Amino acid sequence: MARREQARLFGVLGEPVEHSLSPVMHNAAFAAAGLPHLYLRYRVAPAGLRSALDEARRLRMGGLNLTVPLKEAVRPFLDAVTPEADRIGAVNTILFRGSRLIGDNTDGRGFARALRGRVRLRGATAVVLGAGGAARAVGAALVAAGVGRLVVANRTRARGEALAARLRALGGRDVVVVPLAAVARGSAVAGASLVVNTTSTGLHGAAVRVRHAATPRDCLFVDLVYGPSATPFLAAAARAGRRTLDGAAMLLHQGALAWEAWLGRPAPLGAMAHALAGAGLTLTRPRGAATVAVPRPAHV
Ligand code: ATR
Repeated sequence: MARREQARLFGVLGEPVEHSLSPVMHNAAFAAAGLPHLYLRYRVAPAGLRSALDEARRLRMGGLNLTVPLKEAVRPFLDAVTPEADRIGAVNTILFRGSRLIGDNTDGRGFARALRGRVRLRGATAVVLGAGGAARAVGAALVAAGVGRLVVANRTRARGEALAARLRALGGRDVVVVPLAAVARGSAVAGASLVVNTTSTGLHGAAVRVRHAATPRDCLFVDLVYGPSATPFLAAAARAGRRTLDGAAMLLHQGALAWEAWLGRPAPLGAMAHALAGAGLTLTRPRGAATVAVPRPAHV
């Protein structure tokens, strides 16, 4: 008879954290895999992070995710970070190895997996809008995927330059910085296979203006924001006849990679995708195949 697995606690720490769909996704994965574990949200501000991690260690938690504003603030409290977390300069996943806390980052690889089958990155031109934490993960993934030219478009020039320097140090050979306004004129996006919005503008309604006509017809527009309706950035791209992808696929894949790192077995991706669809997200298959969309239930 199979030995019954010991139930363990997992969770996401952040502030705000109420919006996080990670519990929905990870609890569905535990159920699909027949595991008795539980994943919860914990509201934790930077000032409370050290004691939260001490407590997690005492409780022998199975694994943690971190969201804003903890992804960089956590570094002093970790025993080590993986090479990937070091490349990105942030931690979104904590692995408990005995009493050691190891920081990992699955955002960049989750982003790359979300793009699989949708766009050819090797040698391509990619444009990243924004230069914050999310842009670091996306930029690192694009460099690792071998993009030919990487254009960083940011409102604040110095931050754009800092990201570009970091991406060159990671092996990016042709990384250029332009003002965010250049994407409205078209010069920055000409010939791009991919335009990724990592700025927080998508959340607040005002879209970054882009000259879509300057991009090839099959250029893919990606917004890291996810939700039941298209962001203004993606809605504008769709109106211009361009392909779009929101952050739901990246959410799914970064979660699956974290799950695999915690549990050492393949994640039940279908169950996780189904759970996200049940929470109102739209997950499309590569090459525009069937759409999985389920209306948001009354109680999530
Ligand atoms: P995250 O971790 O989500 O990337 P962040 O590190 O605060 O968040 O970065 C936010 C990004 O959105 C930055 O590139 C920021 O531009 P600046 O470097 O000029 O601050 C960009 N951003 C935020 N609000 C914006 C706005 N109203 N217009 C244009 N860019 C904006």
